[in-house]
Amino acid sequence: QRSYTITLLPGDGIGPEVISVAKDVLILAGSLEGIKYEFRERLIGGAALDATGVPLPDETLSSAKQSDAVLLGAVGGYKWDNNDKHLKPETALLGLRQELKVFANLRPASVFPQLVDASTLKREVAEGVDLMVVRELTGGIYFGKPRGFGTNEDGEECGFNTEIYAQHEIDRIAHAAFKIARKRNGKLCSVDKANVLEASILWRRRVSAIAQEYPDVELSHMYVDNAAMQLIRNPKQFDTIVTNNIFGDILSDEASMITGSIGMLPSASLGASGPGLFEPIHGSAPDIAGQDKANPFATVLSAAMLLKYGLDEGKAAQRIENAVLDTLNKGLRTGDIYSPGTKLVGCKELGEEIMKSVESNVPSG
Ligand code: NAD
Ligand code: IPM
Ligand code: MN
Repeated sequence: QRSYTITLLPGDGIGPEVISVAKDVLILAGSLEGIKYEFRERLIGGAALDATGVPLPDETLSSAKQSDAVLLGAVGGYKWDNNDKHLKPETALLGLRQELKVFANLRPASVFPQLVDASTLKREVAEGVDLMVVRELTGGIYFGKPRGFGTNEDGEECGFNTEIYAQHEIDRIAHAAFKIARKRNGKLCSVDKANVLEASILWRRRVSAIAQEYPDVELSHMYVDNAAMQLIRNPKQFDTIVTNNIFGDILSDEASMITGSIGMLPSASLGASGPGLFEPIHGSAPDIAGQDKANPFATVLSAAMLLKYGLDEGKAAQRIENAVLDTLNKGLRTGDIYSPGTKLVGCKELGEEIMKSVESNVPSG
């Protein structure tokens, strides 16, 4: 029997609700493949702030670093929105990503045929979309210095941040993206703002240079404003997208709506070595927290990515993916993906149904 240590970070808002479902599913799919886990549940975000005074306790960080993988729900909420930066839930997540050195954030957006009618796009536009956003996660404007508050020459208050990329940061995410594109449909679109920003000019230059090592991958470049438009106009033109931290954040939320809901999109954050971090792309959804309305699929699919990318347990991952398809086939939907003719259920009930589907192990079609 294989055994893994997993740090679970439920966090805030709907985080605990969706993590609870994903944990059950991980256990069941794992047990059917001879996998055992030791779960370490730790505090992060607002929950950690309230309990310990800091959003990322040392104990949480050391547990994460010593695990085989980390599964996170979400952080943040109104209560902490006006905290100083070092006391913000979001700062904990950024610190965790940086400490784990998980520079490559994989955010797949594929449209399940069962959910085409949940998309706000026309059927013929959404149907068959299957793209992967590779988002740089530990650099760029999120971390660049100088940053802060100050005054300009008129004595007026200013806030400022720095978009900065060193060559090695671009090179490693580019290599990761080319390798992913090569295993998919062999098309990579690099998204930047090289018509305006120096950091993007270097980005484009380095991505083009690295392309020489991947002659089998067809590389294109696109400005981010056009990319935002093209994603809605004709999303099927994209296979793999590689982009910086902030553009990837925004474009992946946009891409999620092609699939019907942000509640469907999982992610995997990987570094050169060490544990990966797996989390849905959505946030803590304070507007629906505690109401049993959250869609757990994004987190359940993140658990599948954890098995596949984090533990190299592809068979157990496949069991979870099959169960998601089977649950969709049964017509069960949370509110965010509901369409007439389907059955509206809560997060808990959907979780129970996913468990039944894992149990019955219907192969994917
Ligand atoms: P959000 O993703 O939390 O919510 C946006 C909208 O999508 C809301 O209407 C919400 O109800 C809905 N939604 C999100 N996930 C859903 C799900 N699983 N099922 C059904 N509906 C879902 O974004 P926001 O409202 O901008 O941010 C709320 C808080 O979450 C903020 O504090 C923000 O900083 C934080 N946040 C955290 C993460 C993270 O932990 N990775 C990501 C994004 C935002
Ligand atoms: C995400 C979130 C985070 C980000 C925030 C909460 C720091 O929006 O995971 O997409 O911007 O990376
Ligand atoms: Mn985001």
